[in-house]
Amino acid sequence: MEIKRENLINTLGGEEAVARMDSEAKADALEDFLSTELDKILLSEDPFPTAAEVEQKIPTRHFRMGVGNLFVAQAPGAKVKVLPPMPEKPTLYDFFALRFTPANHVLQSAALAMRNGMPEEIILACLLHDTAQALLKADHGYWAAQMYTPYVPEKTAFAIKYHQALRFFADPAYGYEYPDLYRRLFGEDYVPLPHIRADYEMLKKHPWYEAPRLVTVNDYYSFDPNAKVSIDPFREIIGRHFKQPKEGLGNDNSPVAHMWRTIARPDMAL
Ligand SMILES: [Fe+2]
Ligand SMILES: [Fe+2]
Repeated sequence: MEIKRENLINTLGGEEAVARMDSEAKADALEDFLSTELDKILLSEDPFPTAAEVEQKIPTRHFRMGVGNLFVAQAPGAKVKVLPPMPEKPTLYDFFALRFTPANHVLQSAALAMRNGMPEEIILACLLHDTAQALLKADHGYWAAQMYTPYVPEKTAFAIKYHQALRFFADPAYGYEYPDLYRRLFGEDYVPLPHIRADYEMLKKHPWYEAPRLVTVNDYYSFDPNAKVSIDPFREIIGRHFKQPKEGLGNDNSPVAHMWRTIARPDMAL
């Protein structure tokens, strides 16, 4: 992977900011940058692979593509790092700050949804839609919807769940095109799996079709290194619509508490 020094420095806030960083901070920043660079590679101009070529790559990796971001250091030669401990009663904010970070993609998607005047349930869905990728990337929309169902409005969970299926299908009425990223990730001749196709057929007739469709429309992939991303603009929406359990996420004995505990402590051997 070729890294342009200038781009990296700019992403980190300029030469002066880099001079103030210790080596661990620099290593962390490099890792964050690499995951962003990976997105850029995925958006490159090279010809798209075929689905067969994508499959041939599987045995060239030491990890599987569906693994959660917390569980593998994907950059060549990189190691996973010691995670900061979670507070005793972790909130959604703690998970964003300590486990979902860097959450640029979801924060930028939610910011775009806000700029586009989306309803609050949809902005919240955009904010949360890919956060389960900390746990697992494969079927992440379904995992995320399950993780959030006890805590968010029904329509938000619906939008999170089905953004995954709708990402595979263009809808010119909403200005949504099949993403080149998918041609690159899955191969240009890839056919979505039967459960994705079945969900799409169901959604086309569903009165809530628009909810997940609006998540796909606001799914923001062009990383802007100068964009300030923060969860602060969404605190009011979270306050109004996210039912934070008083015991802390993972401690409330809900049917999904174990998912939050696994994200909180991904180094547990069993
Ligand atoms: Fe997604
Ligand atoms: Fe996304």
